[in-house]
Amino acid sequence: MTAATALAHPNIALIKYWGDANPALHIPANGSISLNLAELYTRSRVYFDSDLTSDQLYINDENISGAPLERVSLFLSKVREMAEITTFAQVNSHNNFPASAGLASSASAFAALSLAATASANLKLDEVKLSRLARMGSGSACRSIPAGFVEWQAGHDDVDSYAYTIAPPEYWDLVDCIALVDTGTKPSSSSAGHNLASTSLLQAARLADAPRRLKLCKDAIIHKDFDQLAEVVELDSNLMHAVMLTSSPPLLYWKPATVTIMHAVREWRLTGLPACYTIDAGPNVHILCQGEYEMKLAELLRRLPGVITVITAHPGGSTRLEIGSS
Ligand code: PMV
Repeated sequence: MTAATALAHPNIALIKYWGDANPALHIPANGSISLNLAELYTRSRVYFDSDLTSDQLYINDENISGAPLERVSLFLSKVREMAEITTFAQVNSHNNFPASAGLASSASAFAALSLAATASANLKLDEVKLSRLARMGSGSACRSIPAGFVEWQAGHDDVDSYAYTIAPPEYWDLVDCIALVDTGTKPSSSSAGHNLASTSLLQAARLADAPRRLKLCKDAIIHKDFDQLAEVVELDSNLMHAVMLTSSPPLLYWKPATVTIMHAVREWRLTGLPACYTIDAGPNVHILCQGEYEMKLAELLRRLPGVITVITAHPGGSTRLEIGSS
């Protein structure tokens, strides 16, 4: 068997996935929409090697054992099953962004792993099958497989729960300015969080309204209507955090600087700078704007108290093989 290397981008959810209808299969309780982030990536090389007596995992050249290795090994076993092989694999993965920054490294990690592992095992999966496979590693990883602006249709079972492109990366010049306020602490894992979602009284209301928000968001992308996008993106993020804050036990991901940014973005929008925020399962804030406002927005964010740095990212492509780099 030959080695294969794949590159995948993390994605930022515009309409969030929070809570599962089927936790074992990562069938989400609601559909979601996201944007791949071009400047950020995970590059993974996989080699099924008949000399190995167990799977091996290296992340940024560090040999990893324990729970992360078990998770990757379980995932590789699915690929082994599909390819009808029993060989163990060595996985070498590199991220060009801090794993603890709440930038969904598991999404790009499992997307890259899906393609590199299946290619190394001589399997040729189409985009839908690859997206379904990535979903088994980490739900949101299925959205990093297709290019650009992506929708994950919730579906009902393994076969119909996958992601596809709504619009290619070059369709709309949106920018994600990621304001890092805390890179040190590791927030509670999203896998644990999904299980808590249904303990919040608000989750039912959030889910009941999800089809409306998905439609508003999709229409906003198709018509490049930033005002509509801003409204629904902030609403959706606020709803997810309302569920997090009211689950049992409650999850509070925000730091004081997170809230400072939320206030600032609202104020800037009222005074003529079109921008909106969205926050995942961590304290860092993603602020979206159109290309023409990127410089100004990043500069304003850098000046806010508590902002460590700002990373800017543009719409990114699909998960892809790197030929000749294995
Ligand atoms: O794919 P997971 O299990 O890491 O869940 C992702 C959860 C959020 O990032 C908070 C929202 C999302 O849709 O990406």
